[in-house]
This record gives sequence, structure tokens and C-alpha cells, in this order.
Amino acid sequence: MSEKAEKIILTGDRPSGKLHIGHYVGSLRQRVELQDSGEFKKIYIMIADTQALTDNFANPDKVRASVTEVALDYLSVGLDPNKCTIFIQSQVPELTELTMYYMNLVSIARVERNPTVKAEIAQKNFGEGVPCGFVCYPVSQTSDITAFKATTVPTGEDQKPMLEQAREIVRKFNEIYGPTLVEPDILLASNKACLRLPGTDGHAKMSKSLGNCIYLSDDADTIREKIMSMYTDPTHVKVSDPGHIEGNTVFTYLDAFSRPEHFERYNIGFANLDEMKEQYKKGGLGDVKVKRFLNDIIQEELQPIRERREEYAKDIPALYDMLKKGCETAREAASQTLAEVKHAMKIDYFG
Ligand code: TRP
Repeated sequence: MSEKAEKIILTGDRPSGKLHIGHYVGSLRQRVELQDSGEFKKIYIMIADTQALTDNFANPDKVRASVTEVALDYLSVGLDPNKCTIFIQSQVPELTELTMYYMNLVSIARVERNPTVKAEIAQKNFGEGVPCGFVCYPVSQTSDITAFKATTVPTGEDQKPMLEQAREIVRKFNEIYGPTLVEPDILLASNKACLRLPGTDGHAKMSKSLGNCIYLSDDADTIREKIMSMYTDPTHVKVSDPGHIEGNTVFTYLDAFSRPEHFERYNIGFANLDEMKEQYKKGGLGDVKVKRFLNDIIQEELQPIRERREEYAKDIPALYDMLKKGCETAREAASQTLAEVKHAMKIDYFG
């Protein structure tokens, strides 16, 4: 088999709410392209409920409801169950078992050093202390990735430390127990603005608790309101004032969403985004005009997604049928790897 045919994707999202346009430009949109590229032998997309429970253990209803939302988001952006396996993490117990074995290969100091985990701990305010499960979620994430022998993990930039951790565990495992696991690579969105889309308020992170997200499921009026009240450049008071592009959320969103054909289609009076930015910097281009243009572009992109979402939401039993099949397929693959792991670790007592 050619090398190409051996490329395998695993990625996923925590179900702790609906997915927003940060998820979309940061990873979902690219996943659909990868799915349709035909370059991958297998593609696994995981709803990481076990991981969501590490910081939402007291909120099982929220996690449960979010599994449905995330599955709907996946289908509505164009992930196709005929081309990829969509499954729920907790329903593949092999992943949990692998985590137990991998924990021996990581020191406590090492898990505590993970910058993403550190930032989350600072932000989350765990009253009674940080749960063991939470600091160890990068180890569990290593199980997710290695169980499917994934070579490629298309995900957000914040997941870089998880991939480093996974690679370390893989190397250590293979060194001690013999070559068994595959070292994965992260695949980031190529467009800089997409790596970390700021919130509509200009805050660096789009997050539900800050109320600064545009959701894939938002209706057209909600999207328009959110865009028209977006953070821009506080020094750009009058239309004639010179404006700033850097840190101006509307332009960051245009970087992430606009394509050359939009400038023609919406007859905006600029040949491309660079020309538009130049005019804004010089003065004479008002925020409202820029926001309306952004609104047109985002509405055009999100409308078909929202319509598909409404269709899929009409048949939740079918959605769960699809997920159940996905879980079965995922289990088959993961149990194969688990058997290899146990063999390598000499704990395959009964053949
Ligand atoms: N940590 C990811 C998130 O916060 C979810 C996730 C769990 C994941 N396991 C994974 C992503 C494995 C990529 C690969 O959404």
C-alpha cells in the first residue's frame, strides 16, 4: 500500500456546549476538506464526553445534551458518516483502559507543566481542587489518538501541547515495550486568522462564559446583531478618522472568512481585502459598511449549515443510530490496538 493510503485522522471536540465559528474556521471547515480529499485511509471524529466530564463531572445533563448538539454541528458542516466514523468517547472503553497503562509513562510534574492545562486550571476555578482526571486528560487524549493509529490530528492551536505529550508517551512506550504505537502529527489551519478567532467583543478567546460567540446554530437575526455590535477600533470614531486593522475584530473575521469572489459579489467597491484595509487605515471607511459586508459573507456561509442542522434535528433517533454505528466501528479499531498494547506489555495471559 502507498504511504498516502496509510494516513489516518483522529480528532474531536469536548461536548460542553454547541460549536461556534471559532471551531468552524479553526478546524471543522478543514476537516470537511480533508474528508473530501480522499487522502486518508480512515477518519475518526470523536465527541469527547469522557474528557468533557473531567471538568463537568457535576453536570452530566449538560454533557449529555451537548453530545447531541455537537453531533448535529458535525453533520451540518458536512462531515459525512459514509466517509468518516463519528463516535462518542465514553462508548469505547478501550480508550479508558489504554489511559491507565499510559499513566505510568508520565510524571506528575510533566502533566502539571502542560501550558494549556495550566491556563484552563487558572480560568476554571475548581473550588475543591483540581480533579486528577482533569490534569491527566492529555494522557487520555493520547489514548484517543493512538488507539486509532492516527498519523494526523487536525485540531486547534491550543492542542499543540497535547500532541507533544502524545508523542512523548508513544516514544516511551515503544522504547520500553517495543515498536507498537504510531507518533502523530498535528495539522493546523493554514490561515493565521483561523488559528484563534477572537470573540465578538475582541477578547482573545471565544467562549460561552464570556458570551462572545457566534454559534453555528444561531439564526440570521442573532448573527446580524452580534456582528453589528462587534468590537472594532475604539479610536475610529468618525468615518473620516484613520483606523487600525490590528486587533480590530471585524477585520480579523474578514481575514478568516472572506474570499476574492465576495468582493465582486457584494459590490463593495474594493477589489480585495488589502484595498479595503488600506482605505480603513487612511480614513473614510465606516465600521457599519465593513460590518455589513462581513455579515453578508458570514450569513452566506452559515445559512446552508443552519438549514442542514434543522433537517438533522428533526430525526434525533437517526442521529443516534449513526453514532451507535460509529461507536461500534471505533471499538473494533481500538480493541485491535489494545490487544497489541497488552501483548507488548506482556499482559495477554490467555492468548
Ligand atoms: N481536547 C479537545 C478539545 O478540547 C478534544 C479532544 C479529545 C481531542 N481527544 C482528542 C482533540 C484527540 C484531538 C485529538 O476539544
